[in-house]
Amino acid sequence: MENNNEIFEKLYIAHQEKFGHKSEKKYFSPSRINIIGEHIDYNGGKVMPCAIDIGTYGVVSCREDGVYGMQSLNMDRTGQYQSHQLDFAKSKNWMNYPLGMIRCFKEKGYTVPGFNMTIYGNIPSGAGLSSSASVEMLVGKIINDMLGEPFTMEEIALMGQWVENQHIGLMTGIMDQFAIAKGKKDHAMILNTSNLEHKYVSLELGEYTLLIMNTNKPRSLQESKYNERRSQCEKALEVLKKSIQIEHLCEMTVAQWQEVQHLVSDEVLNRRVKHCVTEQARVEAASEAMEKGDLEELGKLLIQSHESLKEDYEVTGVHLDSLVKAAVAQAGVIGARMTGAGFGGCAIALVAKANIREAMDAIKIEYLKDTGLEAEFFMVGTSDGPREE
Ligand code: GLA
Repeated sequence: MENNNEIFEKLYIAHQEKFGHKSEKKYFSPSRINIIGEHIDYNGGKVMPCAIDIGTYGVVSCREDGVYGMQSLNMDRTGQYQSHQLDFAKSKNWMNYPLGMIRCFKEKGYTVPGFNMTIYGNIPSGAGLSSSASVEMLVGKIINDMLGEPFTMEEIALMGQWVENQHIGLMTGIMDQFAIAKGKKDHAMILNTSNLEHKYVSLELGEYTLLIMNTNKPRSLQESKYNERRSQCEKALEVLKKSIQIEHLCEMTVAQWQEVQHLVSDEVLNRRVKHCVTEQARVEAASEAMEKGDLEELGKLLIQSHESLKEDYEVTGVHLDSLVKAAVAQAGVIGARMTGAGFGGCAIALVAKANIREAMDAIKIEYLKDTGLEAEFFMVGTSDGPREE
């Protein structure tokens, strides 16, 4: 993989070529993995994501005419937009994310000065590592700096979620933007999505490491069942609200759920809630395990999380299942699960450093046999949040 300097060098050249002048500032925004706590950030649950050191690089320069010029080295489409042309349009492609952020600042009463921006992401796209939130947080940081920092990074995270929900129409939770905006090197975050309280846990994995495994089965969230899952949870919550006092599904402990689960008679909705409640309990257990340095226990919880996402939440699919199954069958792999929204994309595995080479080789062979696709592996570090470089 190219290093930071090489990437910025590429961006300077492309920026100058496209816009006819030099860029003035350079930025980086990480992407994220989620260690555990999946599909519960829109159910008031606790999640445990971690910002990682692959992400989106950007260079910018000001322009006087108020126009926003955009290019990405990953995508063909480029564009120049004025401040009355910010609305979502399919044809705007990736630029909907930066334009959505500009629109959000505008809705909050700020005039965003014109700028040219060239970006490049070294995140595999459609892999569930949150390339879109990475772009949103990059642009949010750039604009916030331009305006003299009227917003905190927590507020910028919420603005990113606004872009997903109101601009793009994907009803995602707050996890991705928050994990990126407030990322801390060498740490995972435990975020309570019902009130945004959060703390950091040291990601000290000793003789183990986290391996990212890409199914190379791209998923598109818009086309996936993401919004459907969210509305199933809302339906189940409505049913429960008729009989018990509850704001979010994840308020319930597993024991409390067992007492009231007969109220949710629809079998599918019942399983959706079961996932949320048990996943929340697994996050609590994972957090304790990490504090004690009990990585074997963490590994077991990852495996249980995947099982629940497969059987009860039904967001894994044959590719992720095959990859996780191949991973946990290898010596030195103590846990694995899908990460992010699911329906394709990436999984993570907790692997003994001593076994990593053989594990990757064997997983690759198994997965290819099963699916006909080549799995891809990434060993990444953790990262601080978006920043000027
Ligand atoms: C996507 C969404 C997040 C979260 C995960 C699933 O990444 O953007 O808000 O719901 O899926 O945990």
